[in-house]
Amino acid sequence: MPLMTTKPMFDLAYEGGFAVGAFNVNNMEITQGIIEACAAESSPLILQISKGARSYANIIYLRRIIDAAVEDHPELPIAIHCDHGDTVELIKQCIADGYTSVMIDGSHEPFEGNVALTKQAVDAAHAEGVVVEAELGMLGGIEEDVVGLDAEEYQKNIEQFLTDADEAKTFNEQTGIDSLAVAIGTSHGAYKFKHEATLAFDRIEQIMETCPGLPLVMHGSSSVPREFIDLINQHGGNMPNAMGVPEDQIAQAVQKYGVCKVNIDTDLRLALTAKIREVFANDPAEFDPRKYLGPGRDAIIKMVRRKLHMLNSAGKAEVVNQQWKKLGEPLPKAYGHAA
Ligand code: G3H
Ligand code: 13P
Ligand code: ZN
Repeated sequence: MPLMTTKPMFDLAYEGGFAVGAFNVNNMEITQGIIEACAAESSPLILQISKGARSYANIIYLRRIIDAAVEDHPELPIAIHCDHGDTVELIKQCIADGYTSVMIDGSHEPFEGNVALTKQAVDAAHAEGVVVEAELGMLGGIEEDVVGLDAEEYQKNIEQFLTDADEAKTFNEQTGIDSLAVAIGTSHGAYKFKHEATLAFDRIEQIMETCPGLPLVMHGSSSVPREFIDLINQHGGNMPNAMGVPEDQIAQAVQKYGVCKVNIDTDLRLALTAKIREVFANDPAEFDPRKYLGPGRDAIIKMVRRKLHMLNSAGKAEVVNQQWKKLGEPLPKAYGHAA
């Protein structure tokens, strides 16, 4: 403890001008980097696991690493979340594995199909005390196990993919979700835009009007900092034209609107990769993994601390713990019975 659902986090985030960072984990160093940053900043956090992460690391190992993080930092409010779950079977497996939150991503289905899939996931999760995030509208960018749209095509036809506020209202009423991932111009990966981006803040405003009180989630929210791309390219990498969401726009979405969860994966990958490339460039003879994964982990700590300030979640751990106690909810039933 305190492992928890995202409910107490979002209760406060919706009111209080901050958002909780949801960081993707794939191995021990990434998990430790995130946890150490949150401990240094007293910040609540969401550790999220994609389908690709489950198969890369083997969920049995990943859960034990996360359990170790929870044990090492009992003062931190932590939720374990399934990122982009695409079937009810996977959602049920995640619940059985002790996740406290799941995302069912039916955004590639027609509206009725998305409602039906999401409703099934909500029924399965709520019966076990687990909360559900769903997605409406379409995001661009393609990750290993996350289907998206070609980034260039996406930006050209962006209006048709953004979340519609009236559809969001019907979707919310028909599914009983706990939070909604919205398409407001962000996309996954390191190549989000050709030119400086402007997020569709008017959409967020409209959705907040039709879905009052519903916590909103921003995917694809890495900012792809120029200095990391430069480091990578200077040291043998090849990432031309990489571009992310400007951090001031994310901060604006968080502070002025009901965005409660912000997903970040790419920026962690960039920090780790830039540092490892730098170590190898400076010392081509290095072959002790601790000598490059260690600095890589430190780079992740720095990156995550920067994000926690952007999200204004630094210093919010204790109030979230108090809110969890006040809610008096038991942990999801499956916790402690991980496969
Ligand atoms: O949104 C997608 C995340 O970045 C996870 O990516 O499927 O390659 O693990 P992945
Ligand atoms: P980025 O690729 O912008 O980090 O987004 C990650 C994400 O949305 C995970 O669900
Ligand atoms: Zn995503």
